[in-house]
Amino acid sequence: MKIAIASDHAAYKMKEAIKKYLKSKNIDFIDLGTDSEESVDYPDYAKILGEKVAKKEVDFGIGLCGTGIGMSISVNKVKGIRGALCLYPSMAEYARKHNDANVLVLAGRLMGPDLAIWTVDKFLSTEFEGGRHKTRVEKIERI
Ligand code: RB5
Repeated sequence: MKIAIASDHAAYKMKEAIKKYLKSKNIDFIDLGTDSEESVDYPDYAKILGEKVAKKEVDFGIGLCGTGIGMSISVNKVKGIRGALCLYPSMAEYARKHNDANVLVLAGRLMGPDLAIWTVDKFLSTEFEGGRHKTRVEKIERI
C-alpha cells in the first residue's frame, strides 16, 4: 500500500506525527508538503494530493488542515476524488465501507495526535463493502 500525505501549516505537526506512525507500520508514503509551520494556502496542497490519488500513483491520500474543512472542500474538486473529513475512527470506517473514500481528511487543530492516528489506522484497515454502496458511489461519479 502506498499513501500520499499533505497538509498546510496549521496541521504540519499532525502530519509529522502521522508520518512517524506510518513509518512504524512500514507503510510506504510520499510527503507532498508543507515542510514547516510557515503560512501556506491549503488549496495548493489539496490539488497536488488529489491529483496524485486520481492518477492512481498512490492507493490513498491523507490531507490535513486546521479544521479539515478547506482541505476537504478543495480536494473534492479533483475529479475522481472522494475525500472524507473524519474526526473519529467510526467516521473513517464508514467513509471506507460505504463511500469508498480515497482521501482521508483530518483536522490538525481539532484532533489530538492519538485520535488522528486511530482514525488513520481505521481508514487504512477497512475495505469498501461494494454492493448497494457501489451503485451510490457510481452516482457520485456521474454528478
Ligand atoms: C489556516 O489558518 C486555516 O484556515 C486552514 O488550516 C483550514 O482550517 C481551512 O479550512
